[in-house]
Amino acid sequence: MPAFRAPRGTRDLLPDERAVFDRLMRLAADLTQRYGYLPIETPLFELTAVFERGIGEVTDVVEKELFRLAPRTEEAESWALRPEPTAGIARAYVQHGMQTWPQPVKLTTTGPMFRYDRPQAGRYRQFWQFDVEAIGDAGPAIDAEIVELGHRFYAEAGVEGVEVLVNSIGDPACRPPYMATLTEYYRGHAAQLPPTERDRLERNVLRLLDSKDPDMADLNAGAPRITDHLCEACAAHFESVKAHLAAVGVPYRVEPGLVRGLDYYTRTAFEFYVAGREGQQQALGGGGRYDGLIGLLGGRPTPGIGFGLGLDRVALVLAEQGHTQPVDASPLAVVVSADPDDTVSRLRVATELRTARLRVRADLGRRKLGRQLEAAGKDGAHFAVILGDELAEGQVQFRDLQAGTQRTVALDDLARELARAEASHRHG
Ligand code: HAM
Repeated sequence: MPAFRAPRGTRDLLPDERAVFDRLMRLAADLTQRYGYLPIETPLFELTAVFERGIGEVTDVVEKELFRLAPRTEEAESWALRPEPTAGIARAYVQHGMQTWPQPVKLTTTGPMFRYDRPQAGRYRQFWQFDVEAIGDAGPAIDAEIVELGHRFYAEAGVEGVEVLVNSIGDPACRPPYMATLTEYYRGHAAQLPPTERDRLERNVLRLLDSKDPDMADLNAGAPRITDHLCEACAAHFESVKAHLAAVGVPYRVEPGLVRGLDYYTRTAFEFYVAGREGQQQALGGGGRYDGLIGLLGGRPTPGIGFGLGLDRVALVLAEQGHTQPVDASPLAVVVSADPDDTVSRLRVATELRTARLRVRADLGRRKLGRQLEAAGKDGAHFAVILGDELAEGQVQFRDLQAGTQRTVALDDLARELARAEASHRHG
């Protein structure tokens, strides 16, 4: 057992997995650019109040899962690591007066989030999200555009069988009366409620609806549905979101129990799952509309909507579905030499080739030429550049390791030769 391990609930992304994340992040960057999102980076920690006010104090994320930083005596402020980026981005929108920019302001970020949760497969204390936020558009068309963007991300990443679940959770006009109806319903069945759910009933009744406790399944199936209690404006908004989704060909299912775990949501709420995995707290991603959030953080009331897609879970599913492969680090060529001690020439020639943007390794050990060539083959290199006596005349041996052929090439032509060989190798 090593003396030190990565902290519980965190993990090291070793090269193969890190390469998958790289690919996902490149895809996220490419897609968001296509859809007109601008990149933003906010701090990994914020004043705790940003999360308490934005996400809500009676949510698991703030109440139980916030990574609070120990206050330092010289600072009177209390900070926490970000459990999600939306509150921080909304804070930045207000702070930088983005309401004066052309609306909506469409922002995207990808990075690590922190939640002090009980670790299990697919649930970590540090995890990565690809996030988009469109602030300043009340929808409903943009709601569908964002769901479609999320759906496309999974498709282009190669994840199979992603389902889109949508719901409307109403607004400050229709949600309170619905919550009263819901509270009444659960109170009527108080004896059947597990203790934790009974406690939540009085504090945040919506949470009961997405309870993963199997004892709640029957009770929840019979609960009054928010979609039957929407005010006229919310109902019309929801109908229009669905019509826009249909127009862009995104298949979806209305899930009346989908209420999301953060308090800032209004109206549209959605989640992405791999078919058959719903209900295991294994959402691949989720999001929704938050028309009250900017106001809560001190800005002029401004509507917004966005999503966060969990990259760790996407990577897991890609691996399960057999869509990952080991990262290819093989060089195009390895520079070796007949003189085991002449590491200077090898390093110099390799450096020149790298200046010409070629993927080259120098064999920097002091071993015999045969062993150097053997290692080059094991590396998966296509070519070896062999330095020998003719280096003094500006010439090297250029060996095609796969074809087993070799010829003399002038050092001055080497980069051009290699680049040409790489191109024909790639296209051939
Ligand atoms: P969320 O549903 O809390 O929403 O998180 C979004 C996604 O992050 C989840 O669907 C999941 O894939 C991933 N995730 C969450 N917690 C963990 C964890 N402990 N381990 C691994 N993955 C996790 C939000 O965070 C909102 N900010 C989304 C949003 C953006 N809404 C509007 N704009």
